[in-house]
Amino acid sequence: MEVGFIGLGIMGSRMAANLQKSGYQLTVYNRTPGKANDLVAQGAVEVQTAAEAARRGEVVITMLSTPQVVEETALSADGFLDAMQPNSIWIDCSTVNPTFSRQMAMEANRRGIRFLDAPVAGSKVPAERGELTILVGGDEPDVEVCRGIFEAVGQRTIHAGGHGMGSALKMVFNLLLGSSMVAFSEGMVLGEALGLEQARLFDILSNAIVIAPFVFGKRGKIENENYDADFPLQWMQKDLQLASVSAYEQGVPLPAVNVIKEVYAQAIRDGLGEQDFSAIYAYFRRGLKV
Ligand SMILES: NC(=O)c1ccc[n+]([C@@H]2O[C@H](COP(=O)([O-])OP(=O)(O)OC[C@H]3O[C@@H](n4cnc5c(N)ncnc54)[C@H](OP(=O)(O)O)[C@@H]3O)[C@@H](O)[C@H]2O)c1
Repeated sequence: MEVGFIGLGIMGSRMAANLQKSGYQLTVYNRTPGKANDLVAQGAVEVQTAAEAARRGEVVITMLSTPQVVEETALSADGFLDAMQPNSIWIDCSTVNPTFSRQMAMEANRRGIRFLDAPVAGSKVPAERGELTILVGGDEPDVEVCRGIFEAVGQRTIHAGGHGMGSALKMVFNLLLGSSMVAFSEGMVLGEALGLEQARLFDILSNAIVIAPFVFGKRGKIENENYDADFPLQWMQKDLQLASVSAYEQGVPLPAVNVIKEVYAQAIRDGLGEQDFSAIYAYFRRGLKV
């Protein structure tokens, strides 16, 4: 099957590599050149525009940063949606809000294109290992056509419902991820200020049920004070903003999440946006005398 792949960042580059290993023929596009070199060495075709990447694919996958970038790449004058083959499928794996996914489904359907929102749970390492969880919204027959693709990049596919429901589920996942990281960081910083050692706290908490298990995957980054991004902090703030917008649309108050979102905003202002989101710990720890 020919697949057009648009967006070769931390996640997209690794997902594309796994599709290639599973035998999919890739035509790839990334705004900044140079990120497709490994894929090209393995037989992918790199093109200069998103529209060119979309032209030949039976399926087109986007893995882009924000709803604004997805919209511009799909719908601007030289966007890819008008270049797609009739009846082909656009899978948007970017993390966006459910209302936006439904808008993109409408835009696609108007052009005779099928659409799935399919954001992913799991970060850089699961992406590399093909161990993501794919959260899918859309029509069952389209999910079935794409099942092989999902199995190439992930170990679990959850069909959450119609258009937008994959993105709805993703809002819940990242709300928990972003909030848990902040709660953990505040707890650790208080513990350290009270005289408990960081390593000892980690050891004790790893046998307790009070923290989210993903936090232990961040231990190396925290202990080495090396926050190279698996999941950039700026996209966590974006995701909490999308959760906030979604809550507003539904009339649901999210008081804690809105405060936590602003903590990430402050960390971005302090220069941490491109670091891993676990750098929120370093943000809290600044100035702490231990
Ligand atoms: N990293 C994670 O752990 C993780 C996990 C689950 C979901 N996600 C979600 O997956 C998506 C991608 O995340 P990522 O971590 O791979 O981010 P990333 O490394 O920052 O990649 C972002 C991608 O979007 C492209 N892009 C950004 N602005 C653009 C523009 N104005 N025009 C065209 N292309 C543009 C980038 O192109 P350039 O190379 O030219 O900048 C790159 O291909 C995001 O929605 C994120 O929230 C990430």
